[in-house]
Amino acid sequence: MKSMIQNILQKSNLDARDIRLLLSVTEAEDIEQIRSNAYSIMLEKTGESVWLRGLIEFSNICINDCYYCGIRKSNRGIDRYTLSREEIIDSAKWSADKGYGSVVLQSGERNDAKFIGDLIEIVSEIKSETTSANLPNGLGITLCVGEQSYSDYKRLFDAGAHRYLLRIETSNPQLYAKIHSPNQSFEKRIECLKSLKDIGYQLGTGVMIGIPGQSLDDLANDIMFFKEIDADMIGMGPFIVHSETEFANLKPLYEKRKREIYIQSLLMIAVARLYLKDVNIAATTALQALYPMGRETGLTFGANVIMPLLTPTEYRESYQLYNGKPCIDEFSSDCFDCIQRRVESVGRKIALDQWGDSLHHTLNNKK
Ligand code: 5AD
Repeated sequence: MKSMIQNILQKSNLDARDIRLLLSVTEAEDIEQIRSNAYSIMLEKTGESVWLRGLIEFSNICINDCYYCGIRKSNRGIDRYTLSREEIIDSAKWSADKGYGSVVLQSGERNDAKFIGDLIEIVSEIKSETTSANLPNGLGITLCVGEQSYSDYKRLFDAGAHRYLLRIETSNPQLYAKIHSPNQSFEKRIECLKSLKDIGYQLGTGVMIGIPGQSLDDLANDIMFFKEIDADMIGMGPFIVHSETEFANLKPLYEKRKREIYIQSLLMIAVARLYLKDVNIAATTALQALYPMGRETGLTFGANVIMPLLTPTEYRESYQLYNGKPCIDEFSSDCFDCIQRRVESVGRKIALDQWGDSLHHTLNNKK
């Protein structure tokens, strides 16, 4: 196996079989070989800096019923909230003062005119309120508010948002159908990703790893899908069972699979780095939900983005997409110090006062 992996790692372009093989390794020595190669590519392409995106989970109201998600519409067991405009702007201003450079505005999905109208105003206000000598173009704004129409994506872009996260969740259409309600569609998701790209957003997508019924081939195809859709940013994390969802009864099984899914998630980061090279890849909070050192370990496998939580503490309890979300009782200032320590503990440093755009996007725009 060792020499097979070495041969693959020497190739400049991997194919589907190579990707599948790299994702299948289980021996520590093989994992380390893949990790260190991915890390070198990351250093070469994106440098050692870690970009920060302050994450503001501004509402848990959702019109969708994704079977895996804790804030799905039919979960009656949580308090629904939407932050006031002032709370959102204050959080954004706080993060600009701290030097974060970028924020992510994330919420459950809504498509009504008020939701979009308010969001457009909030985006432009954040822009104007955070423009300073340190940030001449204001905070970088990433949106993560689900499937919207082309024209609403465009309006939000024109208001100043320039990056968008919309996970494909899985690139296998049959598996996609199994984890979403019948009124959601794989084709619609693809159409949205294409619209976002067409409008000029830096496009972020990703998958969950360890979805019930997901195979190694699915995961290999996910990585190839990221290239096909020309993603600029990747955010992936382990699937984690939430007790108020269709998958609640899988909890004992997932407790047993925890280590396997964790390793698989780290390998997905490394192989995505090896295959896509110049994209931004996030070390997601869900990794830390499985193991306390998950996020910093993600950085050592080739990730270069981390998303400290900025959601006001009193709302964090109500924004649990999966059980065991870390940092629920902490304040944003704790998260800032903690993230800095975590990043430094693996020999990296955080980049302050910068947007940290995806190199892939910058290079594509120059063509
Ligand atoms: N486990 C892991 N990730 C989840 N997400 C939603 N529910 C879960 C879960 N149970 C992820 C989805 C979504 C992102 C915002 O959160 O991938 O796109």
